[in-house]
Formats: sequence, structure tokens, C-alpha cells
Amino acid sequence: EMGLHPPEYPWPHSGLFSAYDHAAIRRGHQVYSQVCAACHSVSQLHYRNLVGVAYTEDEAKEMAAEIEVEDGPNDEGETFTRAGKLSDPLPRPYPNEEAARYANGGAYPPDLSLITKARHDGTNYVFSLLLGYHEPPAGVSVREGLHYNPYFPGGAIAMPKMLVDEGTEYDDDSVFATESQQAKDVTTFLAWAAEPEHDERKLMGAKWIFILSVVLLTAGYYKRWKWAPLK
Ligand code: HEM
Repeated sequence: EMGLHPPEYPWPHSGLFSAYDHAAIRRGHQVYSQVCAACHSVSQLHYRNLVGVAYTEDEAKEMAAEIEVEDGPNDEGETFTRAGKLSDPLPRPYPNEEAARYANGGAYPPDLSLITKARHDGTNYVFSLLLGYHEPPAGVSVREGLHYNPYFPGGAIAMPKMLVDEGTEYDDDSVFATESQQAKDVTTFLAWAAEPEHDERKLMGAKWIFILSVVLLTAGYYKRWKWAPLK
């Protein structure tokens, strides 16, 4: 059974010439780290990827240094722990899928690196899913351990409602962390994670359109100029 089709939301980055809202990516990373990272990985992301996108290099280094990383073997063949570096991936909550399922009553919290690409209309889907928890309608019963959510295929999801007002502490305290603000920000973060080249791609597209227009106009003018004496 298909999930309810999400509405089309006006994402700031959806235009032909538009870039991501980078302040939203930054806040979205804070939602991810403070809420989602307890169960979901974003295995494709390394701290260095955040530099210049959502954080300065110093900020990203500082965040990385807060985690402990298993490394080695060293000269003596031993593994050791060290502080995280820019080259480290963001930490994963579980060592493997079995451990993840064990901790989640058999359900698997998927890696979120590509989720906005892997699901049909993924950006609108993730946003709608996060805000889509309701009491089941009369006559619909949901199995123990599942939660009614019409956007999830089948209508019942193992993930409980995760977002509540002020569930995330933003470092930018001019933005109030409502439920929907957090949903928008974390979805923007995940859209960026799935398509980090997006801004560059659209910028290059715009440059090519400009350059090709100049070439076309020049060619048209040159052709008319060249043929003018023969007409
Ligand atoms: C599934 C996102 C937090 C546990 C999902 C899915 C998304 C998602 C998009 C559906 C994937 C699909 O279509 O297959 C998020 C986000 C979170 C968050 C953005 C933070 C705001 C959490 C937390 C937990 C969790 C904290 C654990 C306590 C799960 C589980 C599933 C799931 C078990 C699988 C559901 C099923 O197969 O029925 N999550 N999640 N999630 N999530 Fe989360």
C-alpha cells in the first residue's frame, strides 16, 4: 500500500537558479545531531563536508574533536582512541544493522545520507513524515509498537514521533525551534547531504546558459554581417 502523497512545498532551493538555505542546513545538522543521530547514521558525511557549507573550519574541527574515534593499529599493533578530526565520518549510532534492529524492536532505522533521493518525492516526503503523526482515524487499528502515520507506506511506522517544540537547541537563538521549523531544517540538511553538489550544479548551469547565449548572439550577428553584401 502506498503512503499518502505529500503536498508540494516551496523549498527555497527548488528553483532553477536557487541555492540551499545554508542557515537551515546548519540548524538541520543540529536537529540531526541532537535528535535523529540516536538511531540514524548519515554514513556519507564527514566533518570536512560541513566546512564552508554550514560551519567554519574551526567550528567543524571543534565538533569533530568532541567525539572519540577508534584508530590503529599503531607501531605496537594496538588499537587506540583519539579525538575526532575533520577527515572522520559523523559517528554512527550502531555498529551494524543487527544491533540497530535489536535496539528498535526489529525495525531498521535506515541510513539517512540518501533518503531524500531514495524515496519518491523525498524532500516533501521526509518533511511530511516527520510532521505526519496523528491519532489513527476511527476504525483503523495500529499494531503494538507501531505508530499511525499516513505518509509511511502501509500507514504505520516503527519510528515514534520525534519532533516536539524546543526539541533541539539551536545555536542561533533568533530562531524558535518549533516542531515544523525543526522538520524543515533537518529536511534541508538531508537534501543537502544527498545532493551536496546541488548549488555548484545550478551555478554552472547558469554560467553555461549565459555563455551559450553570448555565443549564439555573436554567431547570429556574424552570419548576418558576413552575408549582408550578397542579399
Ligand atoms: C524510519 C527520519 C529520528 C527510528 C525513518 C524514516 C525517516 C526517518 C525519513 C523513514 C525511512 C523510509 O521511508 O523507509 C528521521 C529523522 C529523525 C529520526 C529526520 C530526527 C528528526 C529517529 C529516532 C529513532 C528513529 C531518534 C529511534 C528512537 C526509526 C526507525 C525507522 C525510522 C526504527 C524504521 C521505521 C519502519 O521501518 O517502520 N526515520 N528519524 N528515528 N526511524 Fe527515524
